[in-house]
Amino acid sequence: NLKAVIFDLDGVITDTAHLHFRAWRTVAGEAGIDIDETFNAGLKGISRMESLRRILCHGGKENAFDNEQQQALAQRKNTLYVQSLASLTRDALLPGIRQLLHDIRLANVKTGLASVSLNAPRILSALDMGAAFDFCADAAQIARSKPDPAIFLAACQGLGVRPQEAIGIEDAQAGIDAINAAGMLSVGIGDDLRHADLQLSSTTELTWRCLSGFWVDKHQ
Ligand code: BG6
Ligand code: MG
Repeated sequence: NLKAVIFDLDGVITDTAHLHFRAWRTVAGEAGIDIDETFNAGLKGISRMESLRRILCHGGKENAFDNEQQQALAQRKNTLYVQSLASLTRDALLPGIRQLLHDIRLANVKTGLASVSLNAPRILSALDMGAAFDFCADAAQIARSKPDPAIFLAACQGLGVRPQEAIGIEDAQAGIDAINAAGMLSVGIGDDLRHADLQLSSTTELTWRCLSGFWVDKHQ
């Protein structure tokens, strides 16, 4: 039986990709590296330090900054990003999410969060969603970024369910790969995702009816 639904945050609960992008573009620009939206799409679901490594590689500057300088760049990006979060209110919740979380609970199924963002608690409270999940995996405890399944496995463990009893929802390819590697059923939101067990174009289609029907279909 389905026991839990585990959500990614950025791009599933609320849309912060453009805020991450603006902050990274500024910091990359200061380091003499140009990044565009297409490159940014590949950073979805990737942790802060791993994102920085990819940006430096993209600009051919992987050896130009020592450890301490890289920490400073990441810190600077985060300061800009956190400033931009001031604009986030409960209206920034993506369509259908509040109703979905409500309906999942009514069905006695648990809800979890598996975000690699260290800002997840701050974002949840800005959205007024601090109490919406039964368990939120702590990104600070996770050493490996998605596509490693670690964050989804931590969420399953915290909820007390087996991965085979859970659905994971993601908007990023690294996230879909992480869910699949964890042995959960994967739901992809948006286009251009490969290997999702169920693919939806937006959260508007993401209803409890759709999720429960999908689960039954897969277990016949
Ligand atoms: C993910 C985002 O949710 O969190 C990534 O998709 C981001 O773009 C990552 O890099 C880490 O976020 P933070 O807030 O810890 O820098
Ligand atoms: Mg995401």
